[in-house]
Amino acid sequence: MFLKNRIKTCCLFGLASIMWLSVFSQRKTIDQKVDSVLKLMTLEEKIGQMNQYTGDWAATGPITKDGNKQSQIRKGLIGSMLNIKGVDHTRTLQEVAMQSRLKIPLLFGQDVIHGYRTIFPVPLGEAASWDLAAIELSARIAATEASASGIHWTFAPMVDIARDPRWGRVMEGAGEDPYLGSLIARARVTGFQGKGLGNINSVMACAKHFAAYGAAVGGRDYNSVDMSLRQLYETYLPPFKAAAEAGAATFMNSFNDINGIPATGNKYIQRDILKGQWNFKGFVVSDWGSIGEMIQHGYVKDNYEAALSAANAGSDMDMESRSYINHLAKLVKEGKVKMSVVDDAVRRILRKKFEMGLFDDPYRFCNETREKAEWNNPEHLTVARDIAKKSIVLLKNEKQLLPVSKQTKSVALIGPFVKAVSDHNGFWSYDWPDDTARIVTLWDGVKSKLGTDAKMLYAKGCNINDSNRTGFQQAVDAATAADIVILSVGEARDMSGEAKSRSNLHLPGVQEELIQAVVATGKPVVVLISAGRPLVFNWTADHVPAILYTWWLGTEAGNAIADVLFGDYNPSGKLPITFPRTEGQVPIYYNHYNTGRPARNDSDKLYRSAYIDLSIYPKFPFGYGLSYSKFEYSNLSVSKTSLKGNEPLKVSVTVTNTGSFDGEEVVQLYIRDLVGSVVRPVKELKGFQKLMIKKGESKTVTFTVTTNDLKFYNDALKYDWEAGEFEIMAGTNSTDVLSKKINWAK
Ligand code: BGC
Repeated sequence: MFLKNRIKTCCLFGLASIMWLSVFSQRKTIDQKVDSVLKLMTLEEKIGQMNQYTGDWAATGPITKDGNKQSQIRKGLIGSMLNIKGVDHTRTLQEVAMQSRLKIPLLFGQDVIHGYRTIFPVPLGEAASWDLAAIELSARIAATEASASGIHWTFAPMVDIARDPRWGRVMEGAGEDPYLGSLIARARVTGFQGKGLGNINSVMACAKHFAAYGAAVGGRDYNSVDMSLRQLYETYLPPFKAAAEAGAATFMNSFNDINGIPATGNKYIQRDILKGQWNFKGFVVSDWGSIGEMIQHGYVKDNYEAALSAANAGSDMDMESRSYINHLAKLVKEGKVKMSVVDDAVRRILRKKFEMGLFDDPYRFCNETREKAEWNNPEHLTVARDIAKKSIVLLKNEKQLLPVSKQTKSVALIGPFVKAVSDHNGFWSYDWPDDTARIVTLWDGVKSKLGTDAKMLYAKGCNINDSNRTGFQQAVDAATAADIVILSVGEARDMSGEAKSRSNLHLPGVQEELIQAVVATGKPVVVLISAGRPLVFNWTADHVPAILYTWWLGTEAGNAIADVLFGDYNPSGKLPITFPRTEGQVPIYYNHYNTGRPARNDSDKLYRSAYIDLSIYPKFPFGYGLSYSKFEYSNLSVSKTSLKGNEPLKVSVTVTNTGSFDGEEVVQLYIRDLVGSVVRPVKELKGFQKLMIKKGESKTVTFTVTTNDLKFYNDALKYDWEAGEFEIMAGTNSTDVLSKKINWAK
């Protein structure tokens, strides 16, 4: 059977290559080749290239079944498919495409969000590492595995800024900050695309969701977005711009409307900003069904109007709404959509197919041997463990309870995450048949550190999200019988992610009650929290001596957590998003404006911008994270206090490790523009350096600030800096900073 397929494939490929060889007989540029193909295409075939369907194997959205997809591929009516995993499936469909008149290869897209087979921490967790090289490497490996599995294109990175943890998709991005988010966007695009499209282990990146999807009102998924253009440019667009500059091959538009115009039908966003101002040469795919959803938005009457609006606005490919395939030809014939609009979209799509080398060999990503080898590459697990331990954030460590000694005689492992498997992978990860064996549980991770000498006790205590307390007693008994308790709680895999908005951010179910019951035993307790978003856990934060935020860490979760628990890795993660005290503070973010009546502290409430019943401060601020080392900041100094024009400013700060462990620290630089023609945030991250400082050692960290770092969008959307006074701040997080003022004249 296999041999028969191979022979068939070779013949079909032979035909395709002979055909394309004659089309490209002379040496031509990709654009010329694209034009040669375009000339041969009928209108229907062109529109086919703009049409994308899901395979029915593993849908990631509502499917419309509308006939035999294979026969449509054969007619040249489909340009791309998603959710087709594995070399055998992609080969089968590519073979069908090779039976079409023009033999234009299909593009296979997939949500490879935080790993493909080897699962890495969820993107928000990885962002907590502030380690751009590690983030790039994780995307690189995801691309290597996915491309070996027949996939050409990942719908990642999601670069949406998210300031509202109720929104379930915060897990998919890099958090709340445009500066950090832009650097991470670049790292991920570079990681996915590797040395460039056309390399066998590169996949096309897709910056999504364009734009402002993360600002959905109330944190409710798919909801509207209403914001000033200035806010859009200043906060939400920078990571997209960074992705475009890093060469992202594609963009995906978003489900939301922006100020009343759905992003999918938004010409200003797609044509004027992306393809115009940013000169983006790739193509834009719609989000799942988002062209058709403009009907529900109340923006268009039917799919005919939806196709008209989306095509003219610059959505090049229709994911799953069938508006283009059913209506675009008519719209072109009626002159409502110009042929040049269709040609531009098709050119963009064909160009990527050429760049990927698919016209040279449509099966170049269909190599079973490579697929097997990459799936079993042990190096990928090493990298996954490395980034997972770097993603963990130490929130609290009273009396240096952590790290736990490997000589500990007895440990009670309590909680629903101790033996959890797929919950560690989190949302946007796929179930593979042998996952249970691959994912390292907390239990196994701890066991590999303690060996057989220590007694390990286990009690699940409760489930993640129900009200059953019958396991509490067993948990209390286990705690009582042990020297130390490791209590692992969190959100189940499907509690953060798409369509997983939550109005209640508290630790779900009775997990916090379980923590209370266990703490009441008087035993030392370490709490681990696994989740895709910031949760609220005030009692725990106030009463438990040691807390690690472990996100959803992926395949190597148990090993990575154990590395940190037992001190083989000194935690270095810093929160990429503010943790609220309670839902009532949301949205809460560090780079807010000062207001005309800022509260000076929590007793300063009268006619102040404050809550009468709640602190104004977050539970844990942006950039926060402890280490087993202790870092002290001193000697913040600036090279000059008065500057003029484009001369650079040097800012230095000394960081001393006064603790008893070597450790890494993320030194953060913030700037505040004290007076602006539009009000400026109380601080903005403008630089950071992650460095190792040995115990007892001091290091001086120097940042160079230029006028570029002072720029912002003014009221006329002009991006420039203004002369005046600035506060320069450096510190271990966004709250605890040393500061100096300087003057910068034009
Ligand atoms: C999501 C996208 C995803 C697409 C394809 C949509 O529902 O919003 O992020 O890439 O489905 O799975």
